[in-house]
Amino acid sequence: MKLVAADYAAEMPDLMSQLARPGLLLVVPDTSRPANVMTIGWATFGRVWSRPMCMVMVRPSRYTYGLINRAGVFTVNRMPAGSAKAVARCGAVSGREVDKIAEQGWTLQPGETQPAPYLAEAALHLECRTVFTSEVTAELAEELRLASYPEADYHTLYFGLVTGVYRHE
Ligand SMILES: Cc1cc2nc3c(=O)[nH]c(=O)nc-3n(C[C@H](O)[C@H](O)[C@H](O)COP(=O)(O)O)c2cc1C
Repeated sequence: MKLVAADYAAEMPDLMSQLARPGLLLVVPDTSRPANVMTIGWATFGRVWSRPMCMVMVRPSRYTYGLINRAGVFTVNRMPAGSAKAVARCGAVSGREVDKIAEQGWTLQPGETQPAPYLAEAALHLECRTVFTSEVTAELAEELRLASYPEADYHTLYFGLVTGVYRHE
């Protein structure tokens, strides 16, 4: 596997299309093992504060929540075609119970620009450093609040400065 630096803006349509199905994989350094992985379907890719930015949303109930708060860094991994089952699994079980990366037989590689690993098996990954966080509140428009937060488990938004975008060849 060879890393090739990629153009963030050029990759956005593909990243967006993967979000809805099957999802992208958020990898965060762990405390009891090298890293944990969880599936994400809600994120935005863009340009904020004149910088390339990736915003991911994590509910406090996720094992990832404590990890991402502590680490301040993360990678977003786009898996190749044929990975839908594995991506679904990473969105159905928690790192509290299962070492999902070991279960899938995936290999972690150290990030090029951040102390956050990525999955060697990915087709592309982003390396990010959290520069701002914010919480969704009950002020969210009612139709969205009722649809997404019946139990008031509001996401935290993590704005990650994108310091590296790499295609795996
Ligand atoms: C397609 C898909 C998309 C998901 N998107 C998100 C998301 O954006 N934010 C979130 O907090 N949970 C999301 N989830 C749920 C988490 O991936 C799931 O709760 C996971 O088990 C959490 O893992 P963890 O406890 O190891 O952190 C999604 C699940 C699936 C299947």
